[in-house]
Amino acid sequence: MEKDIQKKIDELLSKMTLREKIGQLNQPETPTADKIEEFKDMVRKGEVGSILMSCGATAGNDAQGAINVEFYNKLQRIAVEESPNGIPILFGRDVIHGHNTVFPIPLAMTASFNEELIEKSFMDIAKEASNDSIHWTFTPMLDLARDPRWGRIIEGPGEDPYLGARVAVAAVRGLQGNNVSDKDKILACAKHYIGYGASEGGRDYHRTEITDYSLFNYYLPAFKGAVDAGALTVMSSFNDVSGQPVTSSRYYLTEILRNKLGFMGFVVSDYDAVSQLKKQGVAQDEEDCADMSLSAGLDMDMHDSVYLNNLEKSVKEKRISEDIIDTAVRRVLYVKFKKGLFDNPYCEKKEINRISHFEDALKMAEESIVLLKNDNGLLPLKKDKKVGLVGPFVHERRSLLGSWTLDGKESETRNIYEAMREKAPGKIEGITGVGLGWDSSVRCMFESDVVVLCLGESWTATGEHRAVSDISLTDDQKMLIKKAKQTGKKTVGVLFCGRPIEMQGIADNFDALILAWHGGNMCADAVANIIYGDCVPSGRMPMTAVRKATHIPLYYNVTSSGRPVNCYYGENAGDCYVDSLATPYYPFGYGLSYTEFRYSDIRCDNPQLSVDNIKNGKKFILSVDVENIGEYNSKETVQLYINDKVASMMRPIKELKGFKKILINKGEKVSVKFELGYEELGFYLSNGEYTVEPGEFSVYIGKNSLTNRSITIKII
Ligand code: GLC
Repeated sequence: MEKDIQKKIDELLSKMTLREKIGQLNQPETPTADKIEEFKDMVRKGEVGSILMSCGATAGNDAQGAINVEFYNKLQRIAVEESPNGIPILFGRDVIHGHNTVFPIPLAMTASFNEELIEKSFMDIAKEASNDSIHWTFTPMLDLARDPRWGRIIEGPGEDPYLGARVAVAAVRGLQGNNVSDKDKILACAKHYIGYGASEGGRDYHRTEITDYSLFNYYLPAFKGAVDAGALTVMSSFNDVSGQPVTSSRYYLTEILRNKLGFMGFVVSDYDAVSQLKKQGVAQDEEDCADMSLSAGLDMDMHDSVYLNNLEKSVKEKRISEDIIDTAVRRVLYVKFKKGLFDNPYCEKKEINRISHFEDALKMAEESIVLLKNDNGLLPLKKDKKVGLVGPFVHERRSLLGSWTLDGKESETRNIYEAMREKAPGKIEGITGVGLGWDSSVRCMFESDVVVLCLGESWTATGEHRAVSDISLTDDQKMLIKKAKQTGKKTVGVLFCGRPIEMQGIADNFDALILAWHGGNMCADAVANIIYGDCVPSGRMPMTAVRKATHIPLYYNVTSSGRPVNCYYGENAGDCYVDSLATPYYPFGYGLSYTEFRYSDIRCDNPQLSVDNIKNGKKFILSVDVENIGEYNSKETVQLYINDKVASMMRPIKELKGFKKILINKGEKVSVKFELGYEELGFYLSNGEYTVEPGEFSVYIGKNSLTNRSITIKII
């Protein structure tokens, strides 16, 4: 910790009463009007370290009131001018993928494989949030997940730890910048630490079973990325890991997060998670909850006031030493000093030019969209074609914003009908097409040159507490697909979904298929740009799209079995289930373009290095030529995977260890170079020790996780 900050904290601590110290560890939510006076008294007494600027246990699902900057400045003035030590309040809010300007859901942003764009998006997000009294957001959500039934799959970075880590770094950099005390920067919060994405059955909040080997190699890397990028807060998760609630686990919150990853900031609980230890059956009463969580290394208690109501007694009865409280308070004060809160406690609202933010949101939406199918180059469409837009999403706005958009506005969100009509005036007819609208939808299809079915899932089927058992489209949407098929018209499908839905029986029936996600304010405009070729699609799947939900979990970075059942890679694919083919419908990293890229053989300048070479920083240098042999300038995400053929522990058949998204103009050939060294070629043992072992590696470079083009390198 910086010496000057250390000194200020020491001075403050020496003047604080025990109650005031505990107050810094207390995060109530914004009070309702009837409780505001009582709340102000708490602030005056120094009992409010932070305020959760939203209300309700699942804020992402409910409309939240707009932020009143003057209201929060007034509360802050009481804290600064009337509380015993004038410690400013830290204002936190769920600004997950946009504040006023809504960007695509984080899973979609991940699909862009474009870190610069992700970082820029979060810079815009921080600028708008900080202009609304927000010092701290509870994002990036970094829960690796393989089960699209889980509603929160939309909030995270998908199924790969390496991709998750790179997204984490981009988000933290965008939010915190190089100096988080800058007025237009806000504190990041890596959440939900740890293992929440492994909730059994995709059922939210459910138990998880995660070995340390899996934890270190799959679930932890994204958090390591965030911590290494300087994230100053972490949120602990609701779930237990193999019978141990994270909220009260010293092993996860201190031994791993602090002692192994070197995290220096503070840990905030999830909403009421401290008091929920009783329900998890590890705490008798709220005193237990407080003692266990604080001792584990959980510094701030979100919403349930268990710390405020119990820790004084714990200290008086010597169940908890005041030193433990001091440690937690130091961490909170450290973050407040780093944020510059003592120097700039108030929000001076200014005019923000959001035009550039909408432009960035459009770019982000365009680069997150995945072209899944395009038979005979149906897309892009010519603008003289008569297009029949049919389906429940033709006039939809709200769902395009996705879940966790507390401050986004439908009124700032065009629907696909408006966006397409602007592109091709007089050529677009839009029919919602289900229920009573059957005849008009069929008529519309028959009268069109091309049918574009606008389908998807409601935003309310995604986000927190929104797990679904059926990840398919609704029956009426499936009926629309059938009717379109019967017309014999060329049909494009546009899926406005938060999660990758099951594709069997759906994707088969389209000539072209676009996964548009819940892509934010500019989602519809991005889709229209792609349909008419004003933008060439470049998104890639951040997680596997299964044929059927019954195949879940199905993910690419799986270890090999000794028997022929590696169906992900097609090995005896019929063996996984005797009644269905369980290969991925669309694999991790998959996505099409309007052009075609040809890859050369992989080259390696130095195919053999020693373990010592690697430990001393030497790297394998690999390269491949990628040529654009089609008709469109386009971005390609060149992906590098490894397979550690023989190791002391089983290693995945493929692991993403590099990707580069580059623009390659038509007719152009570029050489793409990768380096593989210590960071990429090792793995964690069950005790958390990182090891690089001698042996052969297959290195694959191609366009998605099923690429077979490889070369062998060797560590001796
Ligand atoms: C919720 C979520 C968490 C969110 C917090 C504050 O329950 O689990 O992601 O940041 O509470 O709203």
